Amino acid sequence: MEEKIKSFLEEINLFLFTNEESAEAFRLKYLSKKGIIPALFEEFKTLPPEQRKTTGKSLNELKQLAEQKLADAKSTINKSPDKDTVKTDLSLPGDPHSLGARHPISIVRKQMTDIFTRIGFVVSEGPEIEDDWHNFGALNFPPNHPARDMQDTFFIDSGDGEKWLLRTHTSSVQVRVMENQQPPIRTISPGRVYRNETISARAHCQFHQVEGLYIDEGVSFADLKQTLYYFVQEMFGDKIEIRFRPSFFPFTEPSAEMDITCLICNGAGCPVCKHSGWVEILGCGMVHPNVLDNCKIDSTKYTGYAFGMGIERITMLKFRINDLRLFFENDIRFLSQFKSVL
Ligand code: PHE
Repeated sequence: MEEKIKSFLEEINLFLFTNEESAEAFRLKYLSKKGIIPALFEEFKTLPPEQRKTTGKSLNELKQLAEQKLADAKSTINKSPDKDTVKTDLSLPGDPHSLGARHPISIVRKQMTDIFTRIGFVVSEGPEIEDDWHNFGALNFPPNHPARDMQDTFFIDSGDGEKWLLRTHTSSVQVRVMENQQPPIRTISPGRVYRNETISARAHCQFHQVEGLYIDEGVSFADLKQTLYYFVQEMFGDKIEIRFRPSFFPFTEPSAEMDITCLICNGAGCPVCKHSGWVEILGCGMVHPNVLDNCKIDSTKYTGYAFGMGIERITMLKFRINDLRLFFENDIRFLSQFKSVL
């Protein structure tokens, strides 16, 4: 028995406590009711009396050692650092959170809507999937008229007999406003539009517009000119000049396109303005009486003007961006350059 005690003594001395589980395993093995040490005590009872004295002493020593070892192990395990006891070092540098940036189209869209809302326009929005009436019919595009080809349209095959399409301009939103409201109407409709165009540096199959509409008694082309002049001065600065060229849109009569001084060469002539010194930024005109009638607005009483421009074009001029595709590629190197703006 002395031999056994001696070997357990060694074993216990070498036992490696790593965590609470190992301490519990130790207790079960040596000290629990069914453990080794109580079993040794049982065996001890069977010893002849002359052996009991020395063996009893070593057995007690073994038990004490085991108890001591367990107690020591428990207290060191409890003291070891865990998340509740570790103090936070407040002097350490924080985790950097890099700030995102607004998309340049969102920045300019906001600037544009701010300029117009300052002079009393309200923002109206509408669906991107439209019916033929709101995108074309109400806007005086006769059925099968070649004017519909001006805006290569994505049609949707819905199978329900209705001709659905992706709106080609946000004029469709203005039809909805006119159908639901009587003049005075002063509204702008920013939003995404779609045209079946080959993607290039200057054209895309999706882009953004801000279209404007003002209808009241006695609204004239002079009001239109002054509003647009105010807009470009706010957007590009006081030095900017404008010019109007006659144009055609089914929903306006007369119709015009407006150019501004080329911001790249200040009017001197460069490849961007094709050496003319001018760049086109929008289409506009006086709302055609048929459009007013289509929307149940009395065309003998009211007149109005409308205009529409691409946000991409304005953004390209403002930030001197020469390729429209950059707006849709989500290249972080491009987008992060607008962090300091707004
Ligand atoms: N809707 C026209 C377009 O998308 C722009 C426009 C709006 C022209 C209003 C005249 C008047 O091209």
